[in-house]
Amino acid sequence: MRRLLLLLSWLFALGFSEPQRPVPRRDAEYPPPKTLAFLRPIGERCVKETGVTSSAIVRFSDADIFEDDRALKCYMECMFRLTNVTDDRGELHMLKLLEHVPPEYEEVALRMGVRCTRPKGKDLCERAFWYHKCWKLADPVHYYLV
Ligand SMILES: *[C@@H]1O[C@H](CO)[C@@H](O)[C@H](O)[C@H]1NC(C)=O
Repeated sequence: MRRLLLLLSWLFALGFSEPQRPVPRRDAEYPPPKTLAFLRPIGERCVKETGVTSSAIVRFSDADIFEDDRALKCYMECMFRLTNVTDDRGELHMLKLLEHVPPEYEEVALRMGVRCTRPKGKDLCERAFWYHKCWKLADPVHYYLV
């Protein structure tokens, strides 16, 4: 019995307990209010187009990455399309995206996106999701979805 307890406390010490997730930055300055104001009306249109739930958007934005929501993936595609940042193959034009990023966060955005340049996926929704997943993995603190 004592051995079992020792083993258990040892496993927990090694990190087998709930892993610590980085906390997304959410305050008055970040995500930038101007960018939010620009994205919100487009988001509303894309919610109507795709039928994504707001809880799925909030979950992906502020909690975990999940792969099983087709509407969410197509919502991401719709946002790219209506903000004119992708081409007809679903490839992102980083300079166009940066037009919507305030100058003080350009470096944050560039660092988040620097390794996310070769989207994979059988269609535009899958490829849009590929970017979002890549960004969230690269910088879970600054990544957000509206
Ligand atoms: C995207 O491009 C279309 C067509 O050129 C234009 O009507 C629309 O206003 C643009 N949207 C944004 C957010 O720039």
